Amino acid sequence: MPAVIRENVPLAPYTTFRLGGPARYFLNARTVEDVVEGIKFAADRGLRVLPLGAGSDILIPDSGFDGLVIRLVNLRGARANGNLVYLKAGEPLPRVARELAEKGLSGFEYVVGVPGTVGGGVAKNAGAHGGEIKDILVEAYVIDSEGNVNTLRKDDLGLAYRSSDLPRKGILVEALFKLREDDPEVIRRRIEEFLSYREARQPWTERTAGCMFKNPPGDYAGRLIDLAGLKGFRIGGVRVSEKHANFFVNEGGTADDAIRLIEYVRDRVREVFGVELEVEIEIVR
Ligand code: EPU
Repeated sequence: MPAVIRENVPLAPYTTFRLGGPARYFLNARTVEDVVEGIKFAADRGLRVLPLGAGSDILIPDSGFDGLVIRLVNLRGARANGNLVYLKAGEPLPRVARELAEKGLSGFEYVVGVPGTVGGGVAKNAGAHGGEIKDILVEAYVIDSEGNVNTLRKDDLGLAYRSSDLPRKGILVEALFKLREDDPEVIRRRIEEFLSYREARQPWTERTAGCMFKNPPGDYAGRLIDLAGLKGFRIGGVRVSEKHANFFVNEGGTADDAIRLIEYVRDRVREVFGVELEVEIEIVR
């Protein structure tokens, strides 16, 4: 076994929800070569691979993950060529947003409040305040299940509202973004506005996985859950946030509590409004 791969590593500390059991195998990737090595290790043993970024949009089951987790937050690096910016998978979106603002490059400020990485941001087409990753992505460098690096154009990635085909295509190690020049002061002001919006409306200091459900067409999941009277509703140690009903807060619960709460909330919203909510976060099986 390569030295960098460890066994039976608890995953909860690597998620913002702080839930879930251990990974059977775990690789903390620092280089593209580490990722390739991990993919080959898994292929040789017939193991599933789970890429993990900042762990902000994911629910790991209590039983953990019976394969190889490749953690990518330490795969870092950024280089710019005019308004073209190459970012490695583990670069954190909030920091990238601030640094590009200082350089007078606009496009990333929309995701300044998304506590994720570049890789996760592309995988989920992260967005907020009317902007999304799709607006600025040019291409992605993705390692397939044989360990080859492929260049995928934006149109090959099926980017849609909070989703993409990336998980089926491989593991993103780097991506190229095209930004727009703008006054740094103007971008900075947008950043402050987005952060204060988030601070006022979202439970950003608590243990959550971000928004649990996608907004249904023409409506808001948070509004429906709220109107169904579910704010503060709790199963075990996980409750619907009083601040924003589309966030669930972990107060010492289990992943199973979270899954049961997801099902309960979905059932109630269906009963009350006839609307079928679709889960936004990735529920690992
Ligand atoms: N609302 C309620 N009760 C609540 C929460 C919201 O009535 O408990 C109402 C609000 O008053 C508002 C509407 O629902 O009229 C929408 O709420 P908000 O402005 O907070 O935005 P959202 O649609 O709930 C979306 C994204 C967020 C993103 C914000 C800001 C989704 C599922 N959510 O939230 O993204 O940060 O807009 O742009 O698309 C995420 O994807 O994880 C996420 C948090």
